[in-house]
Order: sequence, then C-alpha cells, then structure tokens
Amino acid sequence: MASLKIKSASKLSGEIHVPGDKSISHRAVMLGSIAEGETRVEGFLAGEDCLATVECFKQLGLQLSAIGSRLSIQGKGLRGLKKPSKPLYVGNSGTTIRLISGIMAGQNFDCEISGDASIQKRPMKRIIDPLLSMGAKISGKKQKGNSFPPLKIKGSKLKAMEYRSPIASAQVKSAILLAGLYADGTTTVIEPAHSRDHTERMLSFMGAKVSMLKPEVSIIGGQTLQGREIHVPGDISSAAFFMVAGLLVPNSNLLIRNVGLNPTRIGIIEVIHRMGGNLEVQDEQLIAYEPRGNIRLTANSSRLSAIEIGGELIPRLIDEIPIIAVLATQAEGTTVIKDAKELRVKESDRIATISSELRKMGAKIEEQEDGMLIFGPTKLKGAIVDSHGDHRVAMSLAIAGLIAEGETTIENTDCIETSFPGFKSLLDVVCTK
Ligand code: S3P
Repeated sequence: MASLKIKSASKLSGEIHVPGDKSISHRAVMLGSIAEGETRVEGFLAGEDCLATVECFKQLGLQLSAIGSRLSIQGKGLRGLKKPSKPLYVGNSGTTIRLISGIMAGQNFDCEISGDASIQKRPMKRIIDPLLSMGAKISGKKQKGNSFPPLKIKGSKLKAMEYRSPIASAQVKSAILLAGLYADGTTTVIEPAHSRDHTERMLSFMGAKVSMLKPEVSIIGGQTLQGREIHVPGDISSAAFFMVAGLLVPNSNLLIRNVGLNPTRIGIIEVIHRMGGNLEVQDEQLIAYEPRGNIRLTANSSRLSAIEIGGELIPRLIDEIPIIAVLATQAEGTTVIKDAKELRVKESDRIATISSELRKMGAKIEEQEDGMLIFGPTKLKGAIVDSHGDHRVAMSLAIAGLIAEGETTIENTDCIETSFPGFKSLLDVVCTK
C-alpha cells in the first residue's frame, strides 16, 4: 500500500493546470456513447474512476480510444448498446454506477453492475426507488433498509414521471434524466437545492431539449444526441487542494489555469472570499456550455475568519468539505459546517475520517451528526495519518502536512489515482521546502 511523506513548505509558486473535471469526463463518455456520430474529448480525466466508465462502455460495444487526456468515441445512438458478456465493473466510482443504472434501465437487455469493496457500501435505494417508479426492474443487495451493489437490472420499457427528490444529488438527478431519455413523455426532477448541472448542460450541448427551471429539470424521452467536441475544464475539486495550499502556505503566489467555474460547483470560492482569502478569478469564458477561468491565489497576510457553511451552499461544495476543514483549522473562531449529512455516505464517512485524522495533527474538531465544528486557529504538527481509502481525505491531509511542523505521513494513498493522477508530482513542482 502506497504512502506519502509531506514536509512543511516555505512557499508555493508558479502556474499550473489540474487534471480534467471528473463529473464532466464521466458524462462525456456516457453521452458520447449514446449519441450519433463521433464525440471528441479534450482534457479528459484519465483517472481510475473515469477509466472505469470507459471500460464499462467498451463492454457495452463501444469503440473508445483514449490517449492521455484525449478520447474519441464512435457513438452508437440511443439504441445501439449491446448486452455485456460479464458484469459491468465500476471500481470505486459512485458516479459511474448511479448514472449508468439510469441508462441500463431502459435497454432491451439485462445486466449486472458491481464494484470494489467501498462501492458495495454505497447506498443505492436513492436511485432504485425512482427508477422502479419509472417501470425499471432493478434490485440490489438489501441491508439495513437500503440496497447496495451489486445491482441487477432487467432492461424494460420506461414511463416518464415527475420526481421530487428528497436529496440534492446530481447522481440521483442524472440517473433519472438519463432513464428519462428512454421513457415515453416528459420526465421531471425537482430537487430541494440545486445540485451540479453538468448532465443537463451536456445534454443541451449535444442537441437535446432540456428545460432547466432551477431547481426543476425536465427532459422529453426519445431525443437524439449529436456527437460533439467537448473541452473538459480542470476540476475545481482538484484545484481546491492547491487553492487552500496557496492561501495557507506563507509567501505563496500561484496561478491555476483553466479551472471549471460552473455556478453549481463554486461554493468553495464563495467560502474563501467570505473567510477573507486572497483569491481572484480571471479570464472567464464559456466553452461547450461550461464556464471556466484562471484562479490566482496569494498567501494571506491577515488571519482568515471562521464562518458558517450550510443550506443550499452544501451541494455546491460537497466534495470540497474535507479541504475546507483544513482551511478552517487556520481561521480565527469556530467554523460551523452543517446540513452535510451526505458526507457520511461518500467514499468514506468524511465527517468521521477527516475529523479523526486532522485531530491526530493537533486540530480541534468536534463531529456533529450533519457536519463539524472546527475551532481555530490551531498549529498543526506532523503525524502518521490514514486516508481510509478516500482520495479527497488523502489529498486534504497532504495539504495539512504542508503547514504542519515536522513530517506528515499519509498512509493508504493509492486512492489518489481515482481523481488526481500526478498529484504529488504537481505538489513537488510548486512547493519550495
Ligand atoms: C457527482 C455528484 C456528487 C459528488 C460526486 C460526483 C457527479 O455526488 O459528490 O463526487 O458527478 O454527479 P451526489 O450527487 O451523490 O451528491
């Protein structure tokens, strides 16, 4: 099992690009596969999660060739997928299993979908229930009132529906919209708060009519998608680690180029500004219906202030909460993170894992059922910590290591490959010891 050793840094400087957006990369493979004609993807994230999606669609009869961050897909159209000869394997990727289930539900063949040990603990009732209401035949392993992978899906004729989702989840919303493509009539999803909208944007970019009346999204079934050229921006969830490092490591001045700035993803920028961090967004542009721009970070000379983070902001920064917890350890006062119970069912129980590991480094954090209380500022010290197999926890702890006294060892870091290949090398490039 790999581990990372991190020493404190005296500054971060330079200009960097982070790998492509994970959510957009998954969707490019999926929608490109069921579109007509060729889809060419630039900036594709060749991390383990998205490569698992590529492998699934190969099993479904697609010819996909990936060279580094370039991917070309010969789309088969809505009805061109073929029955896989073995179970589809999604590895560690929750996005793959939930979104692909929506597509598989409307096929005229059956399939099974499985994944690694961590995916088998991810709740699937949230997609099974609405898909059953659409006439899908889908089941998982039943346990403690929920259902878990492996999933068994019998392809069925689907009917459109209006679904009021109890949670703001783009994975749930997208699974239903993708099933809606295969249903008769108009499928609508209404969310309690607006979750990331990459599926809707990409469907529109590929020529489908999608009505987006936040937080209500509708799609008419049977629409043809057209293959397109998709330029994937850098992943703001990966940039977040360097954003926080650029603010916390003294004397830093860092430019991160071409970062995705979709309004449903930029909660972390709002948080940094409210805390008083020196972050500037530059050169914004819209390509393939997705905004992007450069982000300049300058180390703060004045103290950051603690804030309260909750409500509709949570879905817009859900994946950044572990690194926001690191930032909050250096802010003056008590940072309150609430309404974030979803964190308990991510790649790890992120409320428990980030709290316990940062405490080993001297942070003062109290776990709450739906979030954390973080008391700052605290001086962090090097320690031996564990990622719990969670890529975002691993990288957050590495950034904490940059401002800790002494050496930090993060154990169990193979998981970083799921979303950020080259993370440590990039850190080495910008860090001065
Ligand atoms: C994702 C949606 C989010 C996020 C995950 C990626 C997506 O999950 O946490 O990393 O690509 O749709 P939920 O939709 O379950 O909140």
